[in-house]
Amino acid sequence: MKVSIIGGGGLVGSCAGFALQCGGIAKEIALLDVNQELAVGHALDLQHGGPSIADQVIRGGGYEHIADSDVICITAGLRRKPDESRLDLINRNTDLFVKILQDVATAGPKSTAIVLVVSNPVDILTYVAAKKLGLPCNQVIGLGTQLDTIRFCSLIAEQLGAPPTQTKALILGEHGDSMVPIWSSAAIAGLPLDKYPGWNPSLANQLFTRTRGSGAEVIKRKGGAGFAVGIAIRDVFEAIALDRRCVLPVSSVQSGCYGIRDVALSVPTVVGRAGVLDRMEIELWPREMQGMRASGAALRKTLDVVLQRIGS
Ligand code: LAC
Repeated sequence: MKVSIIGGGGLVGSCAGFALQCGGIAKEIALLDVNQELAVGHALDLQHGGPSIADQVIRGGGYEHIADSDVICITAGLRRKPDESRLDLINRNTDLFVKILQDVATAGPKSTAIVLVVSNPVDILTYVAAKKLGLPCNQVIGLGTQLDTIRFCSLIAEQLGAPPTQTKALILGEHGDSMVPIWSSAAIAGLPLDKYPGWNPSLANQLFTRTRGSGAEVIKRKGGAGFAVGIAIRDVFEAIALDRRCVLPVSSVQSGCYGIRDVALSVPTVVGRAGVLDRMEIELWPREMQGMRASGAALRKTLDVVLQRIGS
């Protein structure tokens, strides 16, 4: 399976390249960037480590890589300033994103290609990609709250001294200010999180607040997130490449799940080789359902402005 990473010269794109390389599943990884020299440099650096990982082809370049790619991962875009919300990015990023979509369409992607949108605001741009690219909607996936979910689990695990891989706590909705923590199913090693030694409700609030602000916290400390985003991309990529059909909190255009439609946001989504295979509408607590609908409404409001701007 071949994956192209648009924005492969940037922090997110190059970290995604490294995460996919270490995963050893992709047969070919192409890093595309307006700064081709940088993309070629990163690809060469990755290639040098190849003999110790897997038999993969890793190359830098441009849109000539799109036509035979099975997964097209779009990470290109401007980054938030520390005090800027993801939605504030919209005006700056939409025009650039639409141009990328045009270039992808012109390059003639496979009819079975899966497009994985990572650029922010990811839910808005996932919707734009689904509408503009002409691929079936189930082939357009946004990274969504997969990143927030692993951040959340990591912070809960750290606080409680629990094993991170056995800490399961979902975040759904918008990858942004209106994201929704799903406490109703949070668990460690299959045991209810709220019964775990050391747990209390004020800790719950603190950990969620820190998770919601994690993107901004990392921007403040090091300029932007890279490693965890790369790993989250790998989670989704491997679900596609291995047709794992696992349930991931990723973004796609909704058509009624939790009563939400015509907006892209994250719900528990079954992901496999054909992209979005199904959605699991499992009953949540009423306030979680309310949060989901509020997230959908907030995104719809921004989307109305964006669609007018790009004339869709
Ligand atoms: C973050 C960016 C990738 O949350 O949205 O770090």
